Amino acid sequence: MAYQTVKGTYDVLPEDFWKRERVKTLFSHFLDLYAYKQLETPVFEYTGVFKKENDTSDMVTKEMYTFSMNGKDSLTLRPEGTAGVIRSFVEHKLYGTNELPVKLAYIEEMFRHERPQKGRQRQFTQLGVENIGDKNPLIDAETIALGYFFIKALGLNDIRVLINTLGDSASRLEYRKALELHFAKYQDTLCPDCQNRLLKNPLRILDCKVDHESEAVLSAPKMKDYLTQDAASYFAKVLAYLDAMEIPYEIDDKLVRGLDYYTDTVFEVVSTRKESGSQSTVFGGGRYDELVKEMGGPQISGIGFAIGLERLVILGEAEGIFEDYQPSVDCYVIDMTEASDYALIIASMLRANSYSTELNYYKRSMKAQFKSADRKNARFTIIIGEDELNNKTLTIKNTRSKEQTSIKYEDLMNYVESLDDLMEEE
Ligand code: HAM
Repeated sequence: MAYQTVKGTYDVLPEDFWKRERVKTLFSHFLDLYAYKQLETPVFEYTGVFKKENDTSDMVTKEMYTFSMNGKDSLTLRPEGTAGVIRSFVEHKLYGTNELPVKLAYIEEMFRHERPQKGRQRQFTQLGVENIGDKNPLIDAETIALGYFFIKALGLNDIRVLINTLGDSASRLEYRKALELHFAKYQDTLCPDCQNRLLKNPLRILDCKVDHESEAVLSAPKMKDYLTQDAASYFAKVLAYLDAMEIPYEIDDKLVRGLDYYTDTVFEVVSTRKESGSQSTVFGGGRYDELVKEMGGPQISGIGFAIGLERLVILGEAEGIFEDYQPSVDCYVIDMTEASDYALIIASMLRANSYSTELNYYKRSMKAQFKSADRKNARFTIIIGEDELNNKTLTIKNTRSKEQTSIKYEDLMNYVESLDDLMEEE
């Protein structure tokens, strides 16, 4: 029986693995620049970590992988990072042992039972941050800046930053009433999900994939007309800080985001490349005033975002950011003798000195071994024949200059280092 990957999951083959690593490494560098600390939380949690009473988001109501072992606790594979990080923040009382805000980050696998398509998988990786403990427009702007400048540093240019505010709780209460009145007039025209959303959370209708072009949604009241003075001035400050950092953005008053916990600032970065297909959102995030309290912690606010790694790689390929990379090794050891322990010792010595080294494993002609060295893109080759073996010498060839020299075994590392200096000068 030959098996294949489960629908919506993919193997990351070596030809793509390094691209993901490169993105992760740059992200980790940005985490250092902004003084975030990485953590890991378990892949599965009690379902209640993600699912709150009256939750109306598609992710929670339709897409979670939920299971129970022996009919006991209900468990869920994490569909997103924020809830687990906040659970951990509260469980370990990180607010008591650290100066606020606590700045946490993660690079982790997520699982959602969505319809798979390009850029939308059932198992995917998020690069995320959560800044927990203080509510300050400076933090909102800095969080967006971290994501934005990381994406720019990666080399992605064809992006737009969309931003909106969902207001504080007083603004949302007024807005909710206005939406209820408005959508009640269109009740019969709404899709079945939105009819349910009208009862539980009419804001969610603005985010509906079915109704988003309908007259009901297009003519809906706008949040900006219901903001309290405080919420409006908070948002204005966030925008002013973005201006100060010269981050271009567009205010999108229909942006509500797909999760229920958001309050005040919400944002998304979308790609304008056709290669992103219908999954153009590279990353999204926002502020959450109530989540820490809901998880049993103190009444403190947080803000964060998550970037989809797979979408970044798709866009990175489209924008040509990976083209400069050529897999290579420092050295290829060509061995024409039967006593390959000499070749092995040489390879070990090079590796111990941090030179990546490939070794010939088969009895093959010199020509075939040189071909392999070429294919592996080796910077230099070492050739071992009977003479070299008997005299404890080796022949070393600089593959760029084609220069070839015979040296004593004990001079190997000095010679390789001088070769390094030479190559740097070129
Ligand atoms: P989200 O918008 O659900 O937000 O997901 C964030 C990003 O994860 C998306 O913009 C996308 O790049 C990627 N993503 C989501 N679903 C998939 C999928 N099925 N396949 C591939 N990539 C996907 C959150 O998850 C929030 N926790 C973000 C956040 C952090 N908000 C505050 N803090």
